[in-house]
Amino acid sequence: MAKYVLLLVVLILGAATATSTQSRSLRSCNQVYNVIDYGGVGDGDTDDTQAFKDAWKDVCKSSSCPVPIIQVPSGKSFLLQPLTFNGECKPDQIIFQIDGTMKAPSDPSDWKCQEHRYCKQWITFDEVDNLMIRGSGTMDGQGSTWWERHSSCKDHKHRDKRVCGRKPTGLVISHSQNVHLEGLTFKDSPQMHVAFERSEWVHASNLTIQAPGDSPNTDGIHLQHAKNIFIDYSRIMTGDDCISIGDGSSQINITHIACGPGHGISIGSLGIDGKSETVEDVHVSYVVFTETTNGARIKTWQGGKGFARNIVFENIRSEGARNPIIIDQYYCDHKHCTDHSSAVKISRIRFENIYGTSHRKPAVHIACSESVPCTDIVLSNVHLDDDDDDGDGDEPSTYCANAQGHARGHVFPPLTCLS
Ligand SMILES: *[C@@H]1O[C@H](CO)[C@@H](O)[C@H](O)[C@H]1NC(C)=O
Ligand SMILES: *[C@@H]1O[C@H](CO)[C@@H](O)[C@H](O)[C@H]1NC(C)=O
Repeated sequence: MAKYVLLLVVLILGAATATSTQSRSLRSCNQVYNVIDYGGVGDGDTDDTQAFKDAWKDVCKSSSCPVPIIQVPSGKSFLLQPLTFNGECKPDQIIFQIDGTMKAPSDPSDWKCQEHRYCKQWITFDEVDNLMIRGSGTMDGQGSTWWERHSSCKDHKHRDKRVCGRKPTGLVISHSQNVHLEGLTFKDSPQMHVAFERSEWVHASNLTIQAPGDSPNTDGIHLQHAKNIFIDYSRIMTGDDCISIGDGSSQINITHIACGPGHGISIGSLGIDGKSETVEDVHVSYVVFTETTNGARIKTWQGGKGFARNIVFENIRSEGARNPIIIDQYYCDHKHCTDHSSAVKISRIRFENIYGTSHRKPAVHIACSESVPCTDIVLSNVHLDDDDDDGDGDEPSTYCANAQGHARGHVFPPLTCLS
């Protein structure tokens, strides 16, 4: 009997030791760096920038843990000046858990920028590989005053130089690889909400991006020199492009997006000021455009070089978008544009399974350059009715210029203009 008791004691002791070792290693492997422990107040008023800097500094030094977590707790609102998290860090991987609110100064003159005379961006992660930014929290750019002052920019005498062309981007991920962005809400950025620049293998999922439909230049997500980017299951309501795909981007996969209000999902604009710019291998699918000004769009400036090629827009629903399908090689956002003999070459573009209503004529608008025509443009299974709101009862129409390609399957309105 005593033998069994002894065995039992040994077993229990053994189990207890095993448990405590396990919990110790678990604890240290989920080491949490809460910004509150670094002096963060989170009352929405106190400047908490230093607390975030200090927490990041410690995370970067930590080595005991495979995955340190920096925590922005829920129920609190942290006022933050422009801040760069730099990736010269020991841990192989970092989790940035945001459940509270991070907010920018609301008055443009309260923004403090160290490195630049003006603030190009608010929150930046630079050279941070293997980063997970997740949570149910919000990044609030408080851009409304920037937007109000932006209205002066058209008036050359009374331009507010601190604002015109200088509104900061909300979140920038630059020079980074293997980054996940999940669950967060981005709101009212002075300019673009999220930008991925010179980065690879970025996965953005389950995001909400929200700004008024008339807020200027507030793109949802912008890509620039970005490769292997996946954006999915997100809702984007804003005043400019829901997603814009800029120069140097390739291998882009965008799926399950609700866009509107906004200007649609755009490739470009490419080729400004005669520049050579390129975008290729883009796949956009399962998108709903609700009352957007454009839907699936490719836009280039006159006089550029380079190319936009191998681009697919498929399984798209348009609910009253104004130009559900548009290629525009005469893009210009001011009055002094002239025609040039060079252009960004557009080829191998497919629009497939695109249904719904279009708000303004023409439903399909393909305006290519006279000197560098578009080639291999395919529309396949497209049906766009006029939404009856304008009361004209007319059939929707199509427009093409200098576009080579063909229509396949059912295409309405009939596309006779492709050559
Ligand atoms: C999406 O994010 C929210 C937090 O913002 C979370 O509650 C929800 O579970 C997430 N959904 C999925 C499918 O991950
Ligand atoms: C894009 O992603 C979706 C969903 O993850 C996948 O089904 C599809 O094959 C991908 N398309 C391309 C061209 O990579």
